[in-house]
Amino acid sequence: MSEINRFVSRLLSNTDDAPDLLLQHLCSIQHHYSHIPEEAVQLLSERLHISRVEIVSIVYFYAFLHMHSQGDYDIRFSDNITDRMLGNLPLLESMCKKLGVKPGETRADGRVSVELTSCTGICDQGPALLVNGMAVSRLDERRIHKIVGLIEARIPVDKWPKKLFVIEDNIQRRDKLLEDVTTHGSAIEAFVVKGSDALLESVDKSGLRGRGGAGFKAATKWRICRDAPGKEHYVICNADEGEPGTFKDRILLNSYADVMFEGMTMCGGIIGAKKGFLYLRGEYLYLRHALEETLQERRDAGLLGKDILGQDGFDFDIEIHMGAGAYICGEESALIESMEGKRGIPRNRPPFPVSVGYKNQPTVVNNVETFVAAARIAVYGADWFRASGTEQSSGTKLLSISGDCTRPGIYEYPYGVSIRQVLEDCGAEDTQAVQVSGAAGFTIPPQEFYRTIAFEDVPTGGSFMIFNQKRDLLEMVKNFNEFFCHESCGFCTPCRIGGTLMKDLLNKVIVGHATAYDLNEMKKIGLLMKTTAHCGLGTTAPNPILDTMEKFPGIYSKRLLNRSYEPAFDLDAALEVSRHITGRDDEAAHIRYER
Ligand SMILES: Cc1cc2nc3c(=O)[nH]c(=O)nc-3n(C[C@H](O)[C@H](O)[C@H](O)COP(=O)(O)O)c2cc1C
Ligand code: SF4
Repeated sequence: MSEINRFVSRLLSNTDDAPDLLLQHLCSIQHHYSHIPEEAVQLLSERLHISRVEIVSIVYFYAFLHMHSQGDYDIRFSDNITDRMLGNLPLLESMCKKLGVKPGETRADGRVSVELTSCTGICDQGPALLVNGMAVSRLDERRIHKIVGLIEARIPVDKWPKKLFVIEDNIQRRDKLLEDVTTHGSAIEAFVVKGSDALLESVDKSGLRGRGGAGFKAATKWRICRDAPGKEHYVICNADEGEPGTFKDRILLNSYADVMFEGMTMCGGIIGAKKGFLYLRGEYLYLRHALEETLQERRDAGLLGKDILGQDGFDFDIEIHMGAGAYICGEESALIESMEGKRGIPRNRPPFPVSVGYKNQPTVVNNVETFVAAARIAVYGADWFRASGTEQSSGTKLLSISGDCTRPGIYEYPYGVSIRQVLEDCGAEDTQAVQVSGAAGFTIPPQEFYRTIAFEDVPTGGSFMIFNQKRDLLEMVKNFNEFFCHESCGFCTPCRIGGTLMKDLLNKVIVGHATAYDLNEMKKIGLLMKTTAHCGLGTTAPNPILDTMEKFPGIYSKRLLNRSYEPAFDLDAALEVSRHITGRDDEAAHIRYER
């Protein structure tokens, strides 16, 4: 029996061989062999009764899986706009030069590969990279030199100096969620003492809305799920945190995991679920070990497993599922597909996961912060929570602040805080714009800094990126647009093609070849994407372009094709040709550009 056969057999013998675990098996194989060997694909295909083509398509879907060998040291530089602002590209170039490898390739001796990857969620301590899944922050020439030396000396990553891997929580402002250290098990005790209905009522009265973006009321979601018929019910915590500039779940997973698991267990008790999952983004692999330890401690303390806290029939346990580098898997139905071992292609909705979710059973999907807030509400009550925030946005919100400010990091504010206040607190000066809610969010100009963080004004999953007057905002727009093109799952045409068309037109603007016609085309395509794309990725992808065109028109108009070139060009002849070919007047302007 070959070594690969033994490895795959071991993987499958540890489980019930369910096809659902395919992605998890692929992650393990990738980790062990730095790619998915063909023999492993064949074995999985035979044993799980999934076609080879299906398995290969899954490997190609996820950025962290590869059919061809990566280097023994697999290096990925985070490429969010904030990493760019901190100089990630010159550092990548420097590392590639020192190692003698081209970006995006593996060195001939197979030792190392270096490439770019989407935001790794370390924007406050960037530029950052991942090496074999471990994060290194605060890169500079000295650190690059050190890493190159370790690689050339063939030192295994687990023997590298620990200080290279220090990622700080960097909490700058604490409020209701962060300042209190709830004792182990107190939310579960509250559940046992008050009972399921009373606790659901309390979450309802608190007005808690989802912290992952859409802001749906948590209690409503839990109630619908509880009442939906099904053989099993499930709880999923969405720790995919892929929105560029968002890193607040990272610190909750790192230092408040106990409270998060408590919230999930309580939700399980309320909806009648026996099983919960934490879907952890592949970029946070380095947090997994500690999370598994926390789960084990909770089992040992009787806070997970059978008859929790001695309550007959209160059974609930939590398993961690890894993502593998696909932003779209943060969308709840794509996440569920991914948990079922498939490509993360969003489902048609309705039906929503609350009634038809994981394994087609009723499933609650909530963000990490939502579960943490729910656990706090269980202990301190609805009124305590409602005392902060606004009418429609009760409680507090964690912001991940990065970009041009002197004190980036995590800030917890009551909802209703103004953008101006946040900028003042984090030491931002001469601010040109704030990008709230990530690449898919809103670009806020100075005349709107009076606006507030709240569902009824400027909602956010947590990302808050600051750009001063020296920044070229089109670089930001370009970075976000490329991000969406890269992360589109390709399922529907408006997003797949629309995104690429937008990218080409934006590049035309950047190099100074665009005309007013092109701007109009961008608007048309953007609106088409917003109204026809299949899921939230495609409907929000044009936001950075549409928003900046409206609020910062100058960054576009100043780059339009200089009219002084026109006399050298026979416009009338071009118009005539255009009319002749297309029968449409408006195409003429386009022909003018093409020349
Ligand atoms: C493209 C896309 C990516 C998303 N990524 C995340 C994510 O990383 N984390 C998250 O909690 N929600 C994300 N969401 C929202 C989820 O679909 C879902 O609404 C959320 O997990 C529900 O939890 P909540 O009600 O607690 O916010 C994403 C949505 C879309 C459309
Ligand atoms: S909008 Fe984009 S990400 Fe969403 S289904 Fe369509 S192609 Fe996939």
